[in-house]
Amino acid sequence: MTSKNMEFNLVWLILAAMAGAYVFLFGFLKQINEWHYVIRLGRKKHSSLPPGDMGWPFIGNMISFFRAFRSRDPDSFINNLVHRYGRTGIYKTSLFGNPSVIVCSPELSRKILTDDERFEAGYPSSLMKLFGRKSFLGITKSEHRRLRKLLAAPINGHEALSMYIRCIEDIMISSLEEWANNTSPIEYVTEWKKISFRVITKLFTGSADFMSESMIEQYGLVFRGAFSLLPVDVPGFLFHRALKARKILVNGIQSHLDERRYRNGDDPNIEKAMIDLLLEAKDNDGEKLEDELIINILLGFLLAGHETTAQVAVWLTIYLHDHPEILQAVKEEQEEIVKRRPSSQKGLTLNEIRQMEYTSKAINETFRISGIPWAIFRKAKNDVKLDGFTIPKGWKVMVWIRGFHKDSEIYPNPNEFLPSRWDNHTPKSGCFMPFGAGSRTCPGGDLAKLEFSIFIHYFLLNYRFERINPKSPVKFPAATPTDNCVARISKLP
Ligand code: HEM
Ligand SMILES: *[C@@H]1O[C@H](CO)[C@@H](O)[C@H](O)[C@H]1NC(C)=O
Ligand SMILES: *[C@@H]1O[C@H](CO)[C@@H](O)[C@H](O)[C@H]1NC(C)=O
Repeated sequence: MTSKNMEFNLVWLILAAMAGAYVFLFGFLKQINEWHYVIRLGRKKHSSLPPGDMGWPFIGNMISFFRAFRSRDPDSFINNLVHRYGRTGIYKTSLFGNPSVIVCSPELSRKILTDDERFEAGYPSSLMKLFGRKSFLGITKSEHRRLRKLLAAPINGHEALSMYIRCIEDIMISSLEEWANNTSPIEYVTEWKKISFRVITKLFTGSADFMSESMIEQYGLVFRGAFSLLPVDVPGFLFHRALKARKILVNGIQSHLDERRYRNGDDPNIEKAMIDLLLEAKDNDGEKLEDELIINILLGFLLAGHETTAQVAVWLTIYLHDHPEILQAVKEEQEEIVKRRPSSQKGLTLNEIRQMEYTSKAINETFRISGIPWAIFRKAKNDVKLDGFTIPKGWKVMVWIRGFHKDSEIYPNPNEFLPSRWDNHTPKSGCFMPFGAGSRTCPGGDLAKLEFSIFIHYFLLNYRFERINPKSPVKFPAATPTDNCVARISKLP
C-alpha cells in the first residue's frame, strides 16, 4: 500500500469516526449548520434561499461530495440534489468550509460569471494558500483587468499564437519520437504534462528548459492540494506536502526572475517573453510590481495552464481510440491537409489549422464530455437576488459547468462521444463554457486548442496508440485514469 493510499484511508477513518460520533451522540448536530448559516439570516432572506441542505458542522457536505467525486459517477452529488429538490438549477450546501450555493443551469451560470459587480473569485482557502493570496485571484478588479490585458495579448487568438506554431510543432514531433523510441510503455498522462508544461514555459520565459521533471511533480502536488479534503498543515497530509511543493516552486521562479533581471540589463536586444512584460509592468500607482505578485502570477499561469491541458489531451486521445470510425475521419481530414499542401512547404500553417473542421468538433466534444475543469468558484460580494433566490453576502458560488455540459435536455445522450452533434450546431448562450465566461474567461483556451490540433496532426498521421490497461478506472478530481494511462506508442510503418 502506498503512503498516499494510507493517508487517504487514514483520512477516511478519521472522517468515518467523526461522522459516526456525530450520528451517535448528537443527532441534533445536523441542525446546527442550518441554524448557524441560515436561520440567523432573518426570515425574509432565509425563506428565499435556494433549496438544499447545509450538512454537518465544520465538514458541511464534504463527505458526500468527495464520496461522489471519488466514485465512478462524480455527478451523483449534483444529480442527487436535482432529484431531491427539483430542477431549480441552484442549491444551497456547505463545502470547503463555507456556506455555498452550487449552480448547474447554463443561464444562471452565465449570469454569475459575467457579473463582476456582485461576484468575485471565490476559490477555497486551501487553493488560495497554495496559489498565493497576492495573485491573479487576489488583486483588485482594476489591477486584474490591466494585468490580464498585458498578459493575454500575446496568447489571445490563433493569430497571435501563430508565431508559436513552429515551436509547438517541434515539441510535439520530438515528444512523439521519444515515446516511440521507448521500448517500455510510457505514462501518457505524465508525458502530456511535460508537453503542456514545455509549451507554457516557452511562451513565458522564451525557453522550454525552464523545467525539470521534479518541477512537474511539485506542480502536480500543488494542483491536487488545492482541493484537499482536509487542508491541514500537518506532516503526512497532502496539503502539507503541497505547501512544501509551493515553496520549492516559489524559490525556483524567484531565482529565474533574478537571473532574468540581471541578464536583460546586459542585453537590450534579447527577445521579450511574458516574464519580461511582468518585470517591466507598473501597477496602478506607477510602481513596479512586487516580486511576490510576479511569482504568484507566473505560478498561477503555469498551474492553470498545464494540468488541465494535459488532462483534456489524454481524454481526446482515449475517446478517439475508443471510437475507431471517428478516429479514421479525423485522420482523413489530416491526410487531406497534407495532400493539398505545396511540396515545398514544411510544417503546418495557421490556415491549415483553421481548416480542421471535423478535428475541431472532436476537440469541442472532448471539452464537453471530459468535464474538465469541474467547477468555477465565485463569492457573493453582497446579498444577491437571482431568479427569485437569494445568495447571501459572503457565500461561495460553485458554478458546476460539467452539470450543463452533460445535461440530456441540452445534449441528448450526454455521455456519448459524438463530434457530429456539432454539425451546424451553435450552442445556445451559456450552454458550452469550457473556458468560463466574463472577465476571467480562460486566456489560454486558444493555446490549448492550437496544441491539440497540432498534436493530433502528427500523432494520427504517424503513430499508433495502445493502452496497456484500457479498463483502468478514473480518478477524480484529477479526472484521469488511475494508471496514468500507461500506453505504448509506436511508429506506423
Ligand atoms: C484544456 C485547457 C484549459 C481549460 C479547460 C481551461 C479552463 C479554464 C477556466 C474554466 C477558467 C475560468 C476560471 C474562473 O473563471 O475562475 C480558466 C482560467 C484561467 N486559465 Fe485556463 N484552461 C485551460 C488551459 C489554460 C492554459 C493553456 C493557460 C495558460 C496560458 C490557462 C491559464 C488560465 C488562467 C491564467 C486563468 C485565470 C484567468 C483569470 O482569473 O483572469 N488555461 N481556465
Ligand atoms: C529516436 O531514435 C532514433 C533512431 O534510433 C534517433 O535517431 C532519434 O534521435 C531518437 N529520438 C529521440 C527523441 O530520442
Ligand atoms: C467549438 O465551440 C466553440 C465555442 O467555444 C464554437 O465557437 C465553435 O464553433 C465550435 N466548433 C465547431 C467546429 O463546432
